[in-house]
Amino acid sequence: MENCFRLKELQIEEILSLLDLAEECRLGKHCNELNGKLIANLFFEPSTRTQYSFNTAEERLGCKVINFNPQASSLQKGESFYDTVKTFESFGVDGLVIRDRADEYYRSLIGKIHCPIFNAGDGKKDHPTQSLLDLLTIRQEFGHFEGLKIAIVGDVKYSRVAHTNIEVMERLGMQCFISGPEEYRDKEYQYLNFEQAVREMDILMLLRVQHERHEQKMTLSTEEYHQQFGLTPARVKQMQEHAIIMHPAPFNRGVEIADEVVECEKSRIFKQIQNGVYVRMAVLLKVLGERR
Ligand code: NCD
Repeated sequence: MENCFRLKELQIEEILSLLDLAEECRLGKHCNELNGKLIANLFFEPSTRTQYSFNTAEERLGCKVINFNPQASSLQKGESFYDTVKTFESFGVDGLVIRDRADEYYRSLIGKIHCPIFNAGDGKKDHPTQSLLDLLTIRQEFGHFEGLKIAIVGDVKYSRVAHTNIEVMERLGMQCFISGPEEYRDKEYQYLNFEQAVREMDILMLLRVQHERHEQKMTLSTEEYHQQFGLTPARVKQMQEHAIIMHPAPFNRGVEIADEVVECEKSRIFKQIQNGVYVRMAVLLKVLGERR
């Protein structure tokens, strides 16, 4: 692996071996294996989990880290995305972790930036490390992927998490459905009524309504959204005994998920966040380590 742009470019065997490596990281192996490498985290879009779990993963591996702050940078003086990235490459960093609002931003860098790039989210297209942490959480829970049923509920149309997950999960033999308001449906995926999804799925993955990506205001009020598509304690009771709840976060309590459900017994949301550190360690090791 020279970069990490999209999971689509990886074979299933490579994906499973990244998950195995992430499990080793969870068990405390590989700390400081990237001692002395210098990584810059360039988040041109806001982020808490992805940015700081990359940061944590880098620190655990012994890297030195630069966290770029777009608000206090020359972007405010009109400097471009490309010139900013090129500047960090010129500092001699060993890797660049980049998130940007443009779909496939990395295409504009291919052939021009010569250090490894880790995609931390591009527009509504891909979010490879999020998918890996979702897969790790699912494998820890069920021990396999084949035949599992997942419904991704909510703002699917604008979600890089949904798009990346559905592509890789289908390759792994999972049955993927979408659910939620009509205005956020992606017609290419199989739709399932929300109440049926609640009763029948092994995994319910909820999404935040990503207002910042929308041109039009949501037609439902947040109360209506919660009433029709929110995961409430009453709906949790209808889920199968073994079924689990996932969410990439940030979540909006009282909209797609009720306050009491966030940390309920079926929720794996904070487990996902924890796994984020291990999969990011694995991806950094695969690209920058000895084990290429
Ligand atoms: C998601 C993202 O940024 O794509 N969050 C994340 O990385 N954990 C989803 C979102 O912002 O709603």
